[in-house]
Amino acid sequence: MPGSRIAALGHHQPARVLTNDDLATMVDTSDEWIRRRTGIATRRIAAPDESVTDLAAAAAAKALAGAGLDPADIGLVTVATCTAIDRCPSIAAQVAARLGIPAAVAFDLNNGCAGFCTALAVADHSVRAGAARHALVIGAEKMSDVTDWTDRSTCVLLGDGAGAAVLSASDEAGIGPVAWGSDPTRGDAVRLVDEWQPRFAQEGQAVFRWATSELPAVARQACALAGLTPADLGGIVTHQANLRIIEALVRQLDLPEHVVVAQDVVESGNTSAASVPLALSKLVDRGDLPSGAPVLLFAFGGGLSWAGQVVTAP
Ligand code: ACO
Repeated sequence: MPGSRIAALGHHQPARVLTNDDLATMVDTSDEWIRRRTGIATRRIAAPDESVTDLAAAAAAKALAGAGLDPADIGLVTVATCTAIDRCPSIAAQVAARLGIPAAVAFDLNNGCAGFCTALAVADHSVRAGAARHALVIGAEKMSDVTDWTDRSTCVLLGDGAGAAVLSASDEAGIGPVAWGSDPTRGDAVRLVDEWQPRFAQEGQAVFRWATSELPAVARQACALAGLTPADLGGIVTHQANLRIIEALVRQLDLPEHVVVAQDVVESGNTSAASVPLALSKLVDRGDLPSGAPVLLFAFGGGLSWAGQVVTAP
C-alpha cells in the first residue's frame, strides 16, 4: 500500500474551565504573569471520576463517526499518553472495548509530548506494511492527575483533553515521512517524579532554549522529507507547550502569513500528547484548514524526544 491518510478527526475536553484568575486564588500568580510568559488564558480540568480512558474514548468515537467506518473496520488502536494510571489492560484496549472494536491490535505508546506524532508514524508504517487498513490513533492526557497544585511554576501550564485521528489506507500518501529522534542525555529536563504519586517537573528554561534553538532544524527536515519547504505549508500544528515557543518556531521557519498556526495552548494549556490532535481537530472543525492543505505536525517534550511529519488535512 503506498500510504495512509487522515480520514477524520475528533476531540474531547472536560467541561470544567480553569482560568488564570482561578489559579491566582490557589498559588501566588496572576493572569498577567501567566499570559505574558506562556500565552495561556484557560485550561480544561477533568472531574475526579473522569479518566484518561473516558477522554480518549470520547475523542475516538467522534473520529470514528466522522470517518463513517464500522468499528470492525479498525485493525489498530493506539493511545499516546504518559498519564495512564491503568497499565493493563491498556487504555487502547479499553477504548476498543467501549467502541465495540472487536479484533484490533491495541496498545498504548508513551513518548511524552511527542507521543501522538510518534503513534501516527507507527500507525502509518503499519498500514503501509499491510498490517491494518484502518487505524485509530489517539492522544489523551489527564495532566491534572500529575500536577502539583502547590507549584506555581508548573500548575499554570497543564490541562486535560484528547484528540483522535482515523487513518485509512490510501493510494496517495497523506502522511509524510517522519522526522523523529531523542536526546536521552537530557532526559531529566522533563519528567514525572515520584512513582507512587507522580508529579510533572521540568527545567523550564532549558526546555525553552532547546525547543527554540535546536528544533527548528528538525521541523525543516520534516518538511524536506515531504518534498516541501516551510513556505509551502498550509498550516502548522506544533506541540502546544507555550505560545512563546510557538511564536519563536514560526519566526525561525520564516513562515509566510498564509500559513495557519495552531494556538490552542491559549485556551487549552499544555495537554502533552493530546495537544497536537486536539489543536488539529479544532482547526479542521472551525474550517480554518482547507481540505487537502499540507500541515506540519511537530511535537516535542519528555525524553527529550521529538517527532513530526507533514500530513494532508482531511
Ligand atoms: N506566577 C508568577 N511567578 C512565577 C510563576 C507563576 N506561575 N512561575 C514562576 N514564577 C516566578 C519564578 O519563581 C521566578 O521568580 P524569581 O525570579 O523571583 O526566582 C520568575 O517567575 C521567573 O521564573 P522562570 O522559571 O525563570 O520563568 P520563565 O520565564 O522561564 O518561564 C516557563 C517559565 C513558562 C515554564 C518557561 O520556562 C517555559 O515555558 N519553558 C518551556 C516549558 C515547555 O515547553 N515544556 C514543554 C515540554 S514538556 C511537556 O510539554 C509536557
